[in-house]
Amino acid sequence: MASPPSKARSSSRTSSPPSGISPETFRSVMGRFATGVTVVTASHRGRDAGMTVNAFLSVSLEPPTVLVALNAKADTTPLVEASHRFGVNLLSARQLSLSERFASRRPSSEKFEGVRFHRGPLGSPLLDGSLGSFECKVVQTVTRSTHRLFLGQVVAMEEGKEELPLVFWRSEYARPSQGGGLVMSPSRVLDRPSNGPARRPRGVGGPRPASKGRHDRKEARDP
Ligand SMILES: Cc1cc2nc3c(=O)[nH]c(=O)nc-3n(C[C@H](O)[C@H](O)[C@H](O)COP(=O)(O)O)c2cc1C
Repeated sequence: MASPPSKARSSSRTSSPPSGISPETFRSVMGRFATGVTVVTASHRGRDAGMTVNAFLSVSLEPPTVLVALNAKADTTPLVEASHRFGVNLLSARQLSLSERFASRRPSSEKFEGVRFHRGPLGSPLLDGSLGSFECKVVQTVTRSTHRLFLGQVVAMEEGKEELPLVFWRSEYARPSQGGGLVMSPSRVLDRPSNGPARRPRGVGGPRPASKGRHDRKEARDP
């Protein structure tokens, strides 16, 4: 039988009181949560913008609703706010370079140069070759500190190819391996056989600490 919650029990869930949680610690713990990777796009008055986003989730099936959390300072954010719509592209493992491109600080106008895309019914750029894409109209916006949370009702979507997804874990890119583990990009493999300990056929050492991750730049990565 579960024992009733006690003060001691609840305080043992965190290593320090809320006021003592540093951004680095928060980021490090959040980094243990593996996510997919998307590119959120927006278009307004002839201007296109897009940014890499892993703060994306499904909220409800009826009506189909998703949520994205965008830094208010990102170039894409004001376009979503002004147009009240956005596109979401689910990246495959083959699209790692697109993730890097849309996470870069280059001007929005340059991000789409040489990238193959088409437009959804609402006009959002949808990247060719994605696993799937959504076009959404914004139904609610919440501001929390540095970020805007956009709840979007899905008005159109496309199902792309059946391919392995791009994964982001501990501030590094990865993709699922056929054997059930994670292949870390670009060279390390973290593979766990069903009954054995984690093994690393290539490369050395464990996962890089989140603070040393390749994409742990302040401007390019959220918690
Ligand atoms: C894997 C990955 C995930 C990211 N997820 C987010 C996110 O969820 N929200 C966010 O605001 N920025 C996120 N970023 C950072 C933005 O992509 C980055 O700040 C980008 O330069 C913003 O582009 P823009 O200013 O042209 O709109 C992420 C970056 C990477 C590499």
